[in-house]
Amino acid sequence: MPAISLTRHLIEEQRLGHVTPDLRLLLEVVARACKRISVAVGKGALGDVLGEAGGEAGSINVQGEAQKKLDVISNEILLEANAWGGHLAACASEEMAHCEPIPDAFPRGNYLLVFDPLDGSSNIDINASVGTIFSVLRCPEGTAAVEDAHFLQAGRTQVAAGYCLYGPSTMLVLTIGHGTHAFTLDREQGSFVLTRAHLRIPETTREFAINMSNQRHWEAPTQAYVADLLAGTDGPRGKDFNMRWVAAMVADVHRILTRGGIFIYPWDRKDPSKPGKLRLMYEANPMAMLVEQAGGAATNGRTRILDIEPDSLHQRVPVFLGSRDEVETATGYHLRHDGDAA
Ligand code: F6P
Repeated sequence: MPAISLTRHLIEEQRLGHVTPDLRLLLEVVARACKRISVAVGKGALGDVLGEAGGEAGSINVQGEAQKKLDVISNEILLEANAWGGHLAACASEEMAHCEPIPDAFPRGNYLLVFDPLDGSSNIDINASVGTIFSVLRCPEGTAAVEDAHFLQAGRTQVAAGYCLYGPSTMLVLTIGHGTHAFTLDREQGSFVLTRAHLRIPETTREFAINMSNQRHWEAPTQAYVADLLAGTDGPRGKDFNMRWVAAMVADVHRILTRGGIFIYPWDRKDPSKPGKLRLMYEANPMAMLVEQAGGAATNGRTRILDIEPDSLHQRVPVFLGSRDEVETATGYHLRHDGDAA
């Protein structure tokens, strides 16, 4: 059986009516941009791509976070690659305050692309895994001039979502609403090759991922849930749990798509003005679609992530995602707590 490239996979999906020619082109362009980002990431210190952007003064993005050179490079690669193909109406990026409509010089398409160009960027300088996350929405019909408000669509309306993991190998994991599929970059051929079709997340797990250093800032039900995981065979769960934390969501979610687990970034009191750390549009929604398409679940501790109606482009949410039974258990702790409080 010859290897199935991403191109062939998408053409077959198009024949099945799962993807339009424009969406296929869009996904191919994003994949090509990810190859370029993979090359930049891979150069490391030899490519003068490490460290902070903006020289000595530094550069702060719209999230109030210091921008790394690779954040800026990856953002530019994605914007440039997607400007001229005629498949997009606008892009929105975690690194930009507002959406960027396609320049007037190029034809405009019917899709909106949302991306976190380089997620987990604190891992860049230590040569650990990082990734690109993306989500595709439809541009509302009859839109003359695209604005941020046109992007504010619930995650269940996404037509595609994916990420590219820059790890020991570069992997693209993609869903167009018909399962979640994993492709590995064949560096000699320069193409993504299908290496795992229809990923399935085991429903149960003995592994969790959370930044434990925030424990004292969590709300009571999150404290209670994690305390019961840590109690292992001595507690109500009756089994021991292992913990892993890569500090790059793409790598943590990739592990969960590969062997199960629960990933948690809960609300905490460190900065009560922020309803979570992770961004709904750039991180939670695309990951939730990938996880649900692989048989898992994703909530904010109370509500399905994909049903949240966004109120701003850079909105933050708590995230609980992964093995279905475990996410339901964690969500149950929060809902019961709310019920008791009421
Ligand atoms: O965007 C945020 C991110 O880098 C995620 O990729 C990752 O899961 C998380 O932040 C790591 O957070 P912390 O620094 O608290 O470990």
